[in-house]
Amino acid sequence: MASARDVARKVLDRVERDGAFAAAVLESEAATLKDQRDSSLATELVLGVLRRRPWLDHLLDSASSGGSLRKLDVTVRNILRIGAYQIAYLDRIPVRAAVFEAVSSVKRSAAPRLSGLANALLRNLAAREPDALRPPADDDGASVEELALRYGLPGWLLARWIDDRGTKEALAIARIFNDRSARTMRVNTSRITRADLLKRLSDSASPGPCLPWSINVSDRRDGRTIEEEGLAAYQDEGAGLVVAALDPKPESKVLDACAGRGGKTGTIAMLAGDRAEITAADRSRSKLDRAAFELNRQGFSANTVVVDLQAGKGALEGPFDRILLDVPCSGTGTLGRRPEIRWRLSPDQVASLVSVQRAMLDSVAPLVAEGGRLVYAVCSILKEEGEKQIERFLEEHPGFEPVRDPPSTWPDSIPWRGGLPFVDPSVHGTDGYFIACLARRFSGC
Ligand SMILES: C[S@@+](CC[C@H](N)C(=O)[O-])C[C@H]1O[C@@H](n2cnc3c(N)ncnc32)[C@H](O)[C@@H]1O
Repeated sequence: MASARDVARKVLDRVERDGAFAAAVLESEAATLKDQRDSSLATELVLGVLRRRPWLDHLLDSASSGGSLRKLDVTVRNILRIGAYQIAYLDRIPVRAAVFEAVSSVKRSAAPRLSGLANALLRNLAAREPDALRPPADDDGASVEELALRYGLPGWLLARWIDDRGTKEALAIARIFNDRSARTMRVNTSRITRADLLKRLSDSASPGPCLPWSINVSDRRDGRTIEEEGLAAYQDEGAGLVVAALDPKPESKVLDACAGRGGKTGTIAMLAGDRAEITAADRSRSKLDRAAFELNRQGFSANTVVVDLQAGKGALEGPFDRILLDVPCSGTGTLGRRPEIRWRLSPDQVASLVSVQRAMLDSVAPLVAEGGRLVYAVCSILKEEGEKQIERFLEEHPGFEPVRDPPSTWPDSIPWRGGLPFVDPSVHGTDGYFIACLARRFSGC
């Protein structure tokens, strides 16, 4: 039977070899573990290694007399990283067990001859003082490259965060991304109250801090069960806030223009009391089919339309009272839950996303009804995808203006910033989001 460490290694291999998303592979692989504690350990090891990868490689390299270990086979490298992570970061795991498990795992791998090397490297780390295994706590005077190594980020990305938000805020965000692992769900309040669902889940769930319909669920199996029953759906509170900003009303015509698998479409239907006319659009037919399935099990429905918004409005017919444009973006606001993104993203990709977002904004703008609302959202903390994108949009579309006052469901704890809220992960404990809540002016007669 697979152990938590085997599962973690398998997930890390898939992430590195196939470009898989860690959360999705973890969800299916962790289902093979009977004990919830093993499932939690596998999650901790996967997230920990992806977040601390450069530092763990640095430690392992420093223990090697033969130079960099980066050329080793992927599986062996991941076994070593898992071993090093336990030694450096997990106090509750005996060091001997971490070394023994790693060496046994290398013996069972395609490169058993490297088990002696694994033993020597991990024993070397195990013999060090705990302080020598963690990055220095004092960041004063450190260069961006040193900070990037300490916080587990590519240097170019950290440099942009610092340019955008200053060093203090950038590092606070980097820190929270390396700590956080809450799994948040939206309670389907059309079926059950949050209080009743919390009562049912007892120890494995707690209320989310920002939104009255959110819960944090620690037990994967409980999460899966209530999802299958249509009582809740996985959704970070940052994503929930996007829909709170949209403020969908009963009897209104709503377009979820990048609906994907319908994560936010369900929230729209719920907040509108299932009485809005909702169109869910996306470039991907298979995602829309999934959205229809998810909505159906929650007791909601929407019209689905396939459209390429980079090329124009396609078959979409306005006007809509509300349009949500949840564009494809760098995902840099979700690095806490999806740490692998940091190792895949490049500056060129960000530039190309910015121009796709711009084209999509231009496509949907004419579809907004006069007096209607357009909410643009990115789960990104980069200003070029957020604040700067909207600055340009408002310059080129004088018929739009930010909505000055927050809707009634908007929590007091999050500054509305005149209709352009930044949901800061280091302050609010959510994913990072930039949201622009824009109203289309009446043109008059
Ligand atoms: C951030 S995701 C949306 C997530 C979704 N709103 C949710 O809450 O689950 C962005 C979506 O944009 C879609 N997309 C990307 N390029 C597009 C295009 N040119 N036209 C329409 N949709 C596009 C992607 O398929 C993806 O589902």
